[in-house]
Amino acid sequence: PGNHPRPVPGTDFDAVAPNKLDRVSIPEGYDQHVVIRWGDAVVPGAPKFDFRKQTAAAQAEQFGYNNDFVGLIPQDSLGLRNLLVVNHEYTTEVHLFPADQYDPANPTEEQVKIAWAAHGLSVVQTLRDPIGGGLRTMASPLNRRITLDTVFEVRGPAAGSKYLKTSADPSGKRVRGTQNNCSGGVTPWGTVLSGEENFHQYFAHAEQVTDPVQAARLKRYVIGTGESTRKWERFDKRWDVAREPNEPNRFGWVVEIDPNDPHSTPIKHTALGRFKHEAANVKITADGRVAVYSGDDERFEYIYKFVSKGKYKKGTSALARRHNSALLDDGTLYVAKFTGDSPAAEIDGTGKLPTDGEFDGAGEWLPLASGNKSFVDGFSAEEVYVFTRQAADKAGATKMDRPEDIEPNPVNGRIYAALTNNTDRGAAGKAGVDEANPRVANKNGHVLEWEEARGDSASTRFAWRLLLVCGDPATADTYFGGFPKSQVSPISCPDNVAFDPHGNLWISTDGNTLGANDGLFSVPVSGPERGHVKQFLSVPVGAETCGPVVTDHLVLVAVQHPGENAASSANPSSHWPDGGTTQPRPAIVSVWRKGRFGLAGRIGVR
Ligand code: FEO
Ligand code: CA
Ligand code: CA
Ligand code: CA
Repeated sequence: PGNHPRPVPGTDFDAVAPNKLDRVSIPEGYDQHVVIRWGDAVVPGAPKFDFRKQTAAAQAEQFGYNNDFVGLIPQDSLGLRNLLVVNHEYTTEVHLFPADQYDPANPTEEQVKIAWAAHGLSVVQTLRDPIGGGLRTMASPLNRRITLDTVFEVRGPAAGSKYLKTSADPSGKRVRGTQNNCSGGVTPWGTVLSGEENFHQYFAHAEQVTDPVQAARLKRYVIGTGESTRKWERFDKRWDVAREPNEPNRFGWVVEIDPNDPHSTPIKHTALGRFKHEAANVKITADGRVAVYSGDDERFEYIYKFVSKGKYKKGTSALARRHNSALLDDGTLYVAKFTGDSPAAEIDGTGKLPTDGEFDGAGEWLPLASGNKSFVDGFSAEEVYVFTRQAADKAGATKMDRPEDIEPNPVNGRIYAALTNNTDRGAAGKAGVDEANPRVANKNGHVLEWEEARGDSASTRFAWRLLLVCGDPATADTYFGGFPKSQVSPISCPDNVAFDPHGNLWISTDGNTLGANDGLFSVPVSGPERGHVKQFLSVPVGAETCGPVVTDHLVLVAVQHPGENAASSANPSSHWPDGGTTQPRPAIVSVWRKGRFGLAGRIGVR
């Protein structure tokens, strides 16, 4: 794709060509460096990383594995000092350990404990170099690791529920740890929300639960049967559903971390429902309440919204943080229903636009529960919050093509959601196409945009349309907001979304099916350049692109699971970032304009 005559501020750079290189490729005139990688010190004084001699104690003080969400909590008005908050989604033990030390059938207890410590989140003090542009980590008392051993407080309407009680926690209010934290969001009050996503995979033996109601609930969440891949149940019975049937109900929540208070107890907010939360992002309603958007990332799952009862208090003081965090414990949980405005016969599954020229229509937020009141027949409010998927089935929500990150655009106020893919759409016995999910066997995903009625996130009605139907622009089944397809970068499997200060959407991808590595893409959402997708960077072999954060002067991405396509660490497919013959290490990368400072050094402005 060449340069357009009148590029939109924030997207004026030369697109990176799709490639399969084992490096982070960035546009001409930009520079990059690795901010922090798996094994680097987080807690000051953490032991130096040694791939062959790792310990759980060391990992608990070092940067964890498989970084996904990246958030910056500003600590000054210039944007130079920030707390960097990163999620560590999951472990791949065959890459976490040297091949000659790890037997997947028989992990050692220490290896299992290393994996527990490699999950969770990291909080790291950073300084942006005003000259060189990159982000550097610093030793600080605010630096913190949260792992599968960190105690969380359960709050909201399902705290203390009979469904959350276990032998280790008869109160049902204190959970040890968080896992599979995928993406997240920084709140206006300066905390981080993080989604517990594919929590099901850590559990074993759900098939041994015989009570039919309980078994159906476990099945609806695809809780693991037989032995688990990681065999954690051998070292802690809580991962064995036959012995602790309620433990899976203690994951699948939105958690909140207060990075400014390293001694704070992190929170699980049950009012936001329990499902495979990709992320959670906040928008303040017209009357000052807090709305939170979240997608459930599995095929044919739903998009949700929570609206608080109480009103937001502006600011990031400890008082404001406490007040606003408590708002997430009482409100109304909704699920989305999408209706198309074109005749069903015109949505033929090929991705061909209907005669009105757009995949679009109206939407409705269906209430599931509010405080202790349920709106779903046959479900108590407690059951709505803990078994949210089943309540949403009953309510008649629209089954989507894997809802990933959802984020409000701070410039135009609209909401954007990545629907990453769903190759089962239209398959035998599965749901067929609808206007919001218009392609059968959707392997490249699409991006949805909606506007709440009156622009107010408290509204229960909205208007929606597809911004992008992703894939190879040379094929007829793609759509780029009406922009000429000959000028756009190919894009596949949108996952995380973010906005630059100009209101352009930035999309990171996971699982590119077009034969090149994953990457980060910008796309203006209004004016003549709407839909002009441009690739800003690509990540190394086997990696997905996460984060991202795009400020005036900095782009941050998380490079997750480089080299994961290799069978084990014996034959790495990637040696990024350390090069040579080293094993790959997930890491955070910062990118900035080379040799340009202040206003001249803005991202995507020439
Ligand atoms: Fe962890 Fe939905 O990606
Ligand atoms: Ca239409
Ligand atoms: Ca994701
Ligand atoms: Ca992903």
